[in-house]
Amino acid sequence: MCGVFGYVGEQVDLGSDLLRGLRTLEYRGYDSWGVALGRGRGIDVVKRVGRVHGDGGEFAPAEIGFGHTRWATHGGVTDANAHPHLDCAGHLAVIHNGIIDNHRDLRSGLIRRGHRFRSETDSEVVAHLMEEALLDGGDLGAALAAVFARLGGLNAVVVMDARTREMAAVKRVSPLVAGVGPSGAFIASDALALRPHADRAVYLEDGQLLRMTRQGLALFDAATLHPLPLRWAELDCSVAEAALGAYPHFMIKEIAEQPAVIERLVERGRAEIEALAEAIAEARATALVGCGTAANAALTGRYLFARIAGVRLDTVVGAEFAAHAPFVASGDLVIALSQSGETADLIEAALIARAGGARLAAIVNVKRSTLDRMVDLRLHLGAGPEQCVLATKSYTAKVAALLLAAHAAAGDYARGAGLVRTAAEGLREMLREERVAPVREAAARIRDAGHMFVIGRGLAYPSALEAALKIKEVSYIHAEGFASGELKHGVIALIEPGTPCLIYAPNDETRADVLSGAMELKSRGGFTIGVGPEPDPLFDIHLPTPDVGDAAPIVNALPAQLLGYHVAMLRGHDPDRPRNLAKSVTVK
Ligand code: F6R
Repeated sequence: MCGVFGYVGEQVDLGSDLLRGLRTLEYRGYDSWGVALGRGRGIDVVKRVGRVHGDGGEFAPAEIGFGHTRWATHGGVTDANAHPHLDCAGHLAVIHNGIIDNHRDLRSGLIRRGHRFRSETDSEVVAHLMEEALLDGGDLGAALAAVFARLGGLNAVVVMDARTREMAAVKRVSPLVAGVGPSGAFIASDALALRPHADRAVYLEDGQLLRMTRQGLALFDAATLHPLPLRWAELDCSVAEAALGAYPHFMIKEIAEQPAVIERLVERGRAEIEALAEAIAEARATALVGCGTAANAALTGRYLFARIAGVRLDTVVGAEFAAHAPFVASGDLVIALSQSGETADLIEAALIARAGGARLAAIVNVKRSTLDRMVDLRLHLGAGPEQCVLATKSYTAKVAALLLAAHAAAGDYARGAGLVRTAAEGLREMLREERVAPVREAAARIRDAGHMFVIGRGLAYPSALEAALKIKEVSYIHAEGFASGELKHGVIALIEPGTPCLIYAPNDETRADVLSGAMELKSRGGFTIGVGPEPDPLFDIHLPTPDVGDAAPIVNALPAQLLGYHVAMLRGHDPDRPRNLAKSVTVK
């Protein structure tokens, strides 16, 4: 979850570069931040709680340094717990992403041996272990390889030695990528942060060790320390695409990009989508796996495949995949859905699936992410950088991809393509100011609500789950999505006069049943917001959607995204950086 950015090379205005890099990575974690710059044989460190601030002008030019944005796991959000962490002597600094499962044992051993800890973090053990490993001199890379082998969990570690002016890095699952610019070498947890400095990059693989010096990069096998060739990949992420432009927030920018994203997918994605549909047809059984919003997209895919292609797909939440492992066998296909391609629970699910003999596929946005690199078959969403912590355009892109794949499985890609294009037009229309007005009105009516409920049935059930997730993440209103048929089996006990209820009422076979659920809500005083092509007297507010048939889950997403955004505005929240959340959940 944390952001990592570092540099070794000629003396430059490094403070400014580090802070710029950290700002690009802030979406990975933003409770605190810190930088370390080599000065002589020592290291200057600045660590602060809160968002990255300043322009770096207060730092002297330096040849080596790195920075970190934190999403706290071990230890509260304090200056002391922010990274980097130093060894006792102050020659070594460490930044870390992940969770060191065995840190307690390591820490108590280090304390017994006389090390002084300054933070409550698991990460600090690495600085002290490195200090011991280098006590009699030796090679930074070899020392890091030996220390890393003692760490349990999925981690990425970068270590800097101010005495020798070098860095070393190693990882397990958690991502690291390095590149070389005109003045020196860079390393980051995300290719986007390298883009201003380099055109191509080396993606570190598990079991590899990277050394960075003024001379550039050198790669080794972490077990044998034998040199390995550097394999370069073009960095095709665009800095311009990642900029906010005229929008006030990334969330609203990314919401507005959705029509273009799904149209692009129709044009460019056909070959990959048809290959995926073929792999599903060949598989003994197929499971869709995702976390959070991606799990909601997966469930939508299950409904779409059943409805359009008569094909059964299983769905499993990433962190629950281990319980599903006994059913995975050779001949199965497991499709992992992910925006970032770095979600630890999902990567672990993919590893379990592979160990069980399944073929692996990914529906993924970030090219060359960990997931993208590990699968046998991939469908790239091409949605561009998604920087708001909330998934919006990556969700609709996943749903569009699954709709297209279901039609391809039914032998009619063109029909799916037509539906997605119609949905894109529908989204454009819904984004017009006069169409957003009723959403603003609904937001004003529910802004002080403590709870709200979202119901849908059939194809709109996963839409209800996603709507509730979006609203709760950004507005902090406790929103729950339900299958409308489940209302009277328990949930209705919670409806009080004025409780906001969002009701998905599409023009399909579920409408009558959903409206009878709406009637039950209304009879108990619920404040009803209907989403669907047709109004109904039961709705206190109607948010119209175009009638786009089986592409309804695409247009269904927008009213909830906008509702969440506008409530967040009214409540004064930052929609791009909701509390306690981070994009790219690289820890379990
Ligand atoms: C919700 C959200 C999260 C992510 C989830 C999976 O708005 O952003 O629920 O969808 O953490 O992330 P990816 O898709 O990167 O695997």
